[in-house]
Amino acid sequence: MEKYLENLKNIIENKLNEYLPEIFPEEIWKAVRYSVLSEGKRLRPILVLEAFKICTGKFEEALPTACALEMIHCYSLIHDDLPCMDNDNFRRGKLTNHKVFGEGMAVLAGDALLSYAPQIILQKTPSNIPKETVFNVLNEFYNAIGPMGMLGGQVVDILSENKEIDIPTFEYIHTHKTGKLFEFALKSGAMLAGASEKKLNALSEYGKILGYAFQIADDILDEISTFEKLGKTPHKDAKAKKNTHTSIFGIENSKSELLILCDKAKTILKLENIESPLLCYIAQRLTDKVKGE
Ligand code: IPE
Ligand code: IPE
Ligand code: MG
Ligand code: MG
Ligand code: MG
Repeated sequence: MEKYLENLKNIIENKLNEYLPEIFPEEIWKAVRYSVLSEGKRLRPILVLEAFKICTGKFEEALPTACALEMIHCYSLIHDDLPCMDNDNFRRGKLTNHKVFGEGMAVLAGDALLSYAPQIILQKTPSNIPKETVFNVLNEFYNAIGPMGMLGGQVVDILSENKEIDIPTFEYIHTHKTGKLFEFALKSGAMLAGASEKKLNALSEYGKILGYAFQIADDILDEISTFEKLGKTPHKDAKAKKNTHTSIFGIENSKSELLILCDKAKTILKLENIESPLLCYIAQRLTDKVKGE
């Protein structure tokens, strides 16, 4: 399974490289390529491809949407690391974008990705996918990334620093800042494939739960893992007085919740007779990673 994931990762990275030009003004593409082509796990685009493959048996036609989603994820990371947000010096084992290119260029690199990614969906999705489907995917894309989605979660995350918040507010942060992109990954793959509503809903639900679980794992790993394994500085959340799953519920409860959610994600697939060893493996791997620390 790891070999299969590695192969998908390579395919995604080759496409990202192809989509990102090195033209005038060179400095912006240099900054964009620095972050996008660094060592990410590529989990979100892999999920787009897998959802499409579950429904059609192939994945190529979903590559533009998969790459666009990874570009948005990279934009969110570049801005998340800025001194005015989480103020991080390392990402994916390298200096953060603003540390290399300066804050102004890092803001613009994020903006460049935000405006360029939807064009990839529009221009590169093959013409055998109905135009109406592409329109609907794009609408979901904007919902997932904007103030109703990831950006909304980031807003509440920043506003909640150094404050006590209630559980619904905390859940809003995790379901939005991280959950929305995961949900979109599965949903968009299914939409592009013309999946039945039942299948689409089940895959979206898997994505939503996996995304929430993924952020819980990220919160746990911030406390217990190392720079070598994470490629980013650990123990940052407590210092910034962030509201994380571990700061609210404690590390052991967070580990149990992670296990419950990953099982739930797998069960949803089973109930809908969705055969995907890869989606089961991804959910399993998330719990194993935390256990192995
Ligand atoms: C980091 O996401 C941001 C979170 C939502 C926790 P990833 O852990 O997927 O980061 P990369 O893409 O592998 O660098
Ligand atoms: C990030 O959450 C969510 C984003 C939308 C980028 P974190 O702030 O916890 O992500 P890391 O730990 O910096 O990767
Ligand atoms: Mg953050
Ligand atoms: Mg951060
Ligand atoms: Mg984190």
